[in-house]
Amino acid sequence: MMKVGLIGWRGMVGSVLMGRMKEERDFDHIDPVFFTTSNVGGKGPDIGRDVPPLKDANSIDELKACDTLISCQGGDYTKEVYPKLRAAGWNGYWIDAASALRMKDEAIIILDPVNKKVIQDGIAGGVKTYVGGNCTVSLMLMAMGGLFDAGLVEWVSPMTYQAASGAGARNMRELIQQMGAVHGEVKTLLEDPASAILEIDRKVADFIRSDRYPTEAWPVPLAGNLIPWIDVALESGQSKEEWKAQVEANKIMGRTGSPIPIDGLCVRVGAMRCHSQALTIKLTRDVPLEDIHSLIAAHNQWVKVVPNDREISMRELTPAAVTGTLTVPIGRMRKLNMGPQYLTAFTVGDQLLWGAAEPLRRMLRILLE
Ligand code: HSE
Repeated sequence: MMKVGLIGWRGMVGSVLMGRMKEERDFDHIDPVFFTTSNVGGKGPDIGRDVPPLKDANSIDELKACDTLISCQGGDYTKEVYPKLRAAGWNGYWIDAASALRMKDEAIIILDPVNKKVIQDGIAGGVKTYVGGNCTVSLMLMAMGGLFDAGLVEWVSPMTYQAASGAGARNMRELIQQMGAVHGEVKTLLEDPASAILEIDRKVADFIRSDRYPTEAWPVPLAGNLIPWIDVALESGQSKEEWKAQVEANKIMGRTGSPIPIDGLCVRVGAMRCHSQALTIKLTRDVPLEDIHSLIAAHNQWVKVVPNDREISMRELTPAAVTGTLTVPIGRMRKLNMGPQYLTAFTVGDQLLWGAAEPLRRMLRILLE
């Protein structure tokens, strides 16, 4: 059996990965070894059978003994350990959730419902490094894969509404603290039906701007607010999150040589773990909406075309509906006033599942095929 080392399995993405691996019985097909940075020799997780004591995630010798390593430990760990492992002659498969190696030539970005052929060619060609994509990019491709495959996309402008989870577990906690704090600030007034809404609003605004508002994970409020910048600034004026859309999507699709322009603004909103995106798509030709629906729906088993209907959109095309599921709905599709080649759409996806953990475990399964 393939000896598979797991690093960072206790963190947020790692825990989602563990949950999915148990659900899909992935552990039945591997010989798992669990690593730790803090509890060497401790007891491994419950996977329904005995596992060896935890091994040292910084021991190159221990890591080298694995055929495959799956890391959810983060980019700093990857930067520290991966080069040492390769320098030590380790030629195993490295499957990583962090972005550190994504754009390296030696790495393939994994999203098999979209690029299984790229992955299989990579395996056949001896590629050993497989990295999960940026969450918004992966979710956009899961939703729009049918249009890309059909050669119908001249360009896309994704405007994102990204959830707190993309920034980490602490940020999710802080969002909830902020929500509670806002409510606490005006609770008494809210309970009084005779109170004036503008007074409540003024109190909330003063509170959000005050030092008493809980902002440790983020430097500015998220609940009752939004943050129009994600990740560091680049010289192009893009945020790094915005830059990733084009470079990563084209790399996933194996078309870095003739990239499709993909560019928009990335915004953090007060959703928990589902990223949403409003897409403006320039089609390469005028195609009827019914054909667009069919192409999109046929691309993979997780995408779901939602009719452009008010009630259904409000019920099914939201973070609240999608959270914790692998379904990637896409709806609000219609041609824009700009002309018949201009399509708009809205899509939502769980950023911890397709956006992070799921492609990793599926990559492992491909290696086991
Ligand atoms: N960078 C993403 C975000 C999450 O901040 O939402 C990781 O892909």
